[in-house]
Amino acid sequence: MTLNSPRGTKDFFGNDIKYRNFIINTARQLFYVYNYSEIITPAFEYTEVFSRSIGEETDIVQKEMYTFLDKKGRSLTLRPEGTASVVRALIENKLYSNRLPVKLFYIGNMFRYERPQKGRMREFWQLGVESIGIGSSIIDAEVIWLLNSFFKQLGFRNLILLINSIGCSKCRVKYILELKKYLKPFKGELCFDCQNRIDSNPLRIFDCKKEGCRKILEDSPKINSFLCSECKDHFEGVLNFLKILEINYEVNPNLVRGFDYYTKTIFEIISSDIKSAQNALGGGGRYDDLINQFGGPDIPATGFAIGIDRTLMLMKQQNINFDIKKEEPKVYVIVMDKNYQSFALEVVKFLRDKNFACDINFKIKNLSSELKLAEKSSYNFAVIIGEDEVNTGNITIKDIDKFKQYKINWKSQKNKIIKLIWSKK
Ligand code: HAM
Repeated sequence: MTLNSPRGTKDFFGNDIKYRNFIINTARQLFYVYNYSEIITPAFEYTEVFSRSIGEETDIVQKEMYTFLDKKGRSLTLRPEGTASVVRALIENKLYSNRLPVKLFYIGNMFRYERPQKGRMREFWQLGVESIGIGSSIIDAEVIWLLNSFFKQLGFRNLILLINSIGCSKCRVKYILELKKYLKPFKGELCFDCQNRIDSNPLRIFDCKKEGCRKILEDSPKINSFLCSECKDHFEGVLNFLKILEINYEVNPNLVRGFDYYTKTIFEIISSDIKSAQNALGGGGRYDDLINQFGGPDIPATGFAIGIDRTLMLMKQQNINFDIKKEEPKVYVIVMDKNYQSFALEVVKFLRDKNFACDINFKIKNLSSELKLAEKSSYNFAVIIGEDEVNTGNITIKDIDKFKQYKINWKSQKNKIIKLIWSKK
């Protein structure tokens, strides 16, 4: 019996690895430029870490978590997102005790039991940042600036930044009352889940993907008309900074995002080229109350996460190519006979000691098929070790890109080899 990977998971190899590494390397470089440092948290946490932060009534907690009991009967959950884990780690390790903001980034796999489709996986990868400790709108703008720069650096054009403010807990009380009043007459037309949400958590009705529920919400009161003066000023401040940074945005009053922890500014980057409801490449927002609710100090925070899988998918779809030649030059050492293998190993050792990427043919085949393979596998040089090379001590080096060939004396001209390979950098 052959075994397949579980539904909604994916193996990465070949070209996808190149895209993925390019995405991750670009992000790492930018995170460094924006002064974020890396944090790695466990892939699973006690279930409460997620249920208490994301919210009991959310789709993620109610339907999508991979939760299991360990051998001692404790409830654990594979992380569905990174923010809750970072907050748990921040408090546990008192990372807030020095200078604020604490600026952290993470790269990791997340798990959600969703119905898999294009761009929606059960195991997927995120790049995320959390900027913790400062409540002013300049930080919201900086976080969105970073998100925007990332997609720009990858080579994307025409992405849309949606932004909204869902206010603080104070403005939300008034809004929820109005929303409930509006929804009650439509109760019978809402789906079963949303009927229950009217009383328990009506904001979560905005996350419902069902057409009927979405239609009813079209004319509903919108949260951003209920902002208190502080939240209004904050939002105007963010939009103003975005203008200064020349970042285009669309205010979308229907944007609420599916987590209970958000306050004030929330945002998403979407692509109109992804023709499904799963068109967000990244999203985030403020969560000013979460750290305190978790038992930590009363400090505000904001952040975002980017979906690596969706970013990769769209890069391929839009034919966004990156310069593969930027990779280090690679050398393929072709040995023509078992008796010459020790000579060939000497050459490979020399190259690897100099940190050049190189490999050797472990199975002896004919030269032309080995050269074809070197070309197909994007090696830049082939070093040939055959009878002539062993007898004369002059190895043959082929520059595969330039169709040029050189004879270099192995004992006396090693530096020439290095220079030749370096010329490709
Ligand atoms: P999120 O919007 O749930 O936010 O996820 C961020 C991104 O992860 C999405 O825009 C999408 O690209 C990707 N993503 C989410 N679910 C899937 C899936 N099932 N398959 C493939 N990709 C997916 C968060 O996770 C928040 N923690 C972001 C945040 C950080 N807010 C504040 N700080």
